[in-house]
Amino acid sequence: MTDELTPETPDEDEQPIKQRKNGLYPGVSDELAENMRSGWADTELHDLRPIEQAPNAARRRAALSARFPGERLVIPAGNIKIRSNDTEYNFRAATEYVYLTGDQTDGNVLVLEPRENAADGHEATIYRLPRSNRENGEFWLNGMGELWVGRRHSLAEAQALLGVPCKDVRDLTGTLAEATGPVRVVHGHDAAIEAALNDKVTAERDEELRVYLSEARVIKDEFEIGELQKAVDSTVRGFEDVVKVLDKAEATSERYIEGTFFLRARVEGSDIGYGSICAAGPNATTLHWVRNNGPVRSGDLLLLDAGVETHTLYTADVTRTLPINGRYTDLQRKIYDAVYAAQEAGIEAVKPGAAYRDFHDAAQRVLTEKLVEWGLVEGPVERVLELGLQRRWTLHGTGHMLGLDVHDCAAARTETYVNGTLEPGMVLTVEPGLYFQADDLTVPEEYRGIGVRIEDDLLVTEDGNRNLSDGLPRRSDEVEAWMAELLGKK
Ligand code: GLY
Ligand code: MN
Ligand code: MN
Repeated sequence: MTDELTPETPDEDEQPIKQRKNGLYPGVSDELAENMRSGWADTELHDLRPIEQAPNAARRRAALSARFPGERLVIPAGNIKIRSNDTEYNFRAATEYVYLTGDQTDGNVLVLEPRENAADGHEATIYRLPRSNRENGEFWLNGMGELWVGRRHSLAEAQALLGVPCKDVRDLTGTLAEATGPVRVVHGHDAAIEAALNDKVTAERDEELRVYLSEARVIKDEFEIGELQKAVDSTVRGFEDVVKVLDKAEATSERYIEGTFFLRARVEGSDIGYGSICAAGPNATTLHWVRNNGPVRSGDLLLLDAGVETHTLYTADVTRTLPINGRYTDLQRKIYDAVYAAQEAGIEAVKPGAAYRDFHDAAQRVLTEKLVEWGLVEGPVERVLELGLQRRWTLHGTGHMLGLDVHDCAAARTETYVNGTLEPGMVLTVEPGLYFQADDLTVPEEYRGIGVRIEDDLLVTEDGNRNLSDGLPRRSDEVEAWMAELLGKK
């Protein structure tokens, strides 16, 4: 579809007077302009009920308000980005904005305005585009008009859905530029808003806001846990889809796997929560293999690390390493079972009161014991751990918080996250792995090009943990039985 009606920069000299008077563009007659102004039904939606997460978002705004009394707080949703020429990337709203509103609309901005008496908290407003104006033609002549991009909610509709008063975002930069008093903004999402605040904010104070909004998300509420479970359940179905098309992937490439999982994500959720890692054979040893253009061969392993993101933008993050022909070789099984044992030790360490680092340490110890046992590194185990020598093959940390972001709460301070203590309501991944690069001359040749990771999503409960992704088998014999059953059903 070409954008024939999108106006080129109007050339004042060449425009007939009558069209300039209308505020319209070349090629639009008075008659057509008049015709397009009327004859449209009133589609205003009444009696809308608030979205499910509206009360949660209100609680989060109240906590934010209490943390920064008397200060204006600006939290943008972000804007659409150009992919090429006049096509755009799919929009994904900024996590902080979604967390505080439940809304995902591009260009929106949440502002918490301090009340006159700081002890009275803040007045929240969401600034957004209203319905397109039909009088001045913007709804059909402007590429952002509703005729091109789809119907928007009116300000009144959005207010009913989100439980927050809404105003026209086109007035916001002027309002912010004129405003006085302390202000903080969440950086990185809206250049125009940041420019309007340029001489009023400091990097240090903005960082405190970002850190607060990261740490506030460490404990998930019931709604969030439900959404994460939905994300994981869709992801489980996506993994099943992939197993069923492994023969088609063998006939083409890893792209068939990526596309198959993406179909599930788009049909059941919003998107994938991060670029799917569909790594067959030696590509499994590249931690973030997202090119996904390699061959899929019987006898090799497939490391699939993928997660569906729900309509509310919570993501799963799950990895399984599968034998492409349905049976692990003896060496693949030996390595897989070692990673499985490490994951079991890691999962065992996920419980309230435990140090966050415990599950990583537990998994690393098991992997190190195996590496020493196999003669790949000289023991004793304590020496290897102390010097970190196992890391040539274990490569990465054993997990991270999970939520709206796949690496959630990333701005949280070390003392509250990595050096912190596990509490009920935290959701985190446990994902040990072993990776033998294809050109690693320090391991026997048969190890080279094998990469294994197993990743699950764990909720810390009052008495331990719940594995949200236990809908997928983990033990090697159970993986084989599951694959056989799925392939038998085809
Ligand atoms: N999928 C990225 C990770 O596991 O952290
Ligand atoms: Mn992960
Ligand atoms: Mn992952």
